[in-house]
Amino acid sequence: MRKRRIGKCKGPNIHLQCDFEGEVLAKQFASLGAKLILSARNEAELERVKSQLSGKHAPNEVKILPLDLASGEESLKKTVEKAEAFFPGIGVDYMIHNAAYERPKAAAVDVTEESLKATFNVNVFGTISLTRFLAPYMLKRGRGHFVVMSSAAGKTPAPGQAVYCASKFALNGYFHNLRSELFQKGIKVTVVCPGPIETSTTVSTEKRLSAERCAKLTIIAASHGLKEVWISYQPVLGVMYLVQYMPTIGFWLMDKVCFFHFMSLASHAVFSLCGRLSSAMTKDGSRGRLTQPMARPMPINI
Ligand SMILES: NC(=O)c1ccc[n+]([C@@H]2O[C@H](COP(=O)([O-])OP(=O)(O)OC[C@H]3O[C@@H](n4cnc5c(N)ncnc54)[C@H](OP(=O)(O)O)[C@@H]3O)[C@@H](O)[C@H]2O)c1
Repeated sequence: MRKRRIGKCKGPNIHLQCDFEGEVLAKQFASLGAKLILSARNEAELERVKSQLSGKHAPNEVKILPLDLASGEESLKKTVEKAEAFFPGIGVDYMIHNAAYERPKAAAVDVTEESLKATFNVNVFGTISLTRFLAPYMLKRGRGHFVVMSSAAGKTPAPGQAVYCASKFALNGYFHNLRSELFQKGIKVTVVCPGPIETSTTVSTEKRLSAERCAKLTIIAASHGLKEVWISYQPVLGVMYLVQYMPTIGFWLMDKVCFFHFMSLASHAVFSLCGRLSSAMTKDGSRGRLTQPMARPMPINI
């Protein structure tokens, strides 16, 4: 990857929530010369990730900041104050919202209030609160960039994942709105919607994108200031196109996919039909091409 300067900042200071995808992102950001703040609840894990980073400012200028997104406003406010104080005079240039909570799959009608609250506390309320507390610092400096790891499930229905899906749709709504309100004051937002990604805990026969490839395309998207990117193999990318640009067909298709999912039938047959449809729609299946004008959602074909 071309070593492009990340945004307007020479040695950007990045606050990153560090899960598996976060770990891979941290490695790539560190190698590009970023100063990093790593956050999650498990401090020992964060130390492990830090010890593996290398780059102009890593691991020496990599800070560990334990964070529980469900810990409430007061605690999140203090976390933001600590993050801002780590690099005096610089603050946080990039906030990478990467952490998420996902429950085992369940039918939409079986969702419990406890499950709804647990998911929304982390994926939505905690993430938005952190953003609200950090944004004033960024506004004062006249620059800042939120990179939000959403999901293909934030664009289309996802069988058995109604709550997760709802939380990602909520994130998309909040952050696109935030950008519309603050872009003239120097605040950027990049919403990243990946399809299935290979993680350390993945147990699936589904074709998944590697975390490294997803991180690389995420950094390319952020460094180009893109507003929304879709990163996935087919057929998921094709389904996203259909739901966005031909919703009547897209939702019809997803109704069938959900039906087959819950009837435990071979839903992959529908997906492969969709895959054939989608490859006819998307002209270019090559790796890492940016295929549409920036004013529109920017699918990244892989
Ligand atoms: N994997 C996929 O196929 C896929 C597809 C599309 C989008 N995504 C999105 O990509 C991002 C990364 O996915 P992933 O699969 O790498 O995630 P993951 O491995 O499931 O990791 C989730 C991370 O979130 C952190 N976390 C959970 N609850 C938290 C809390 N209350 N406070 C702070 N941190 C918390 C956890 O760290 P601690 O337990 O240490 O706190 C954990 O490392 C997520 O936003 C996910 O929705 C993933």
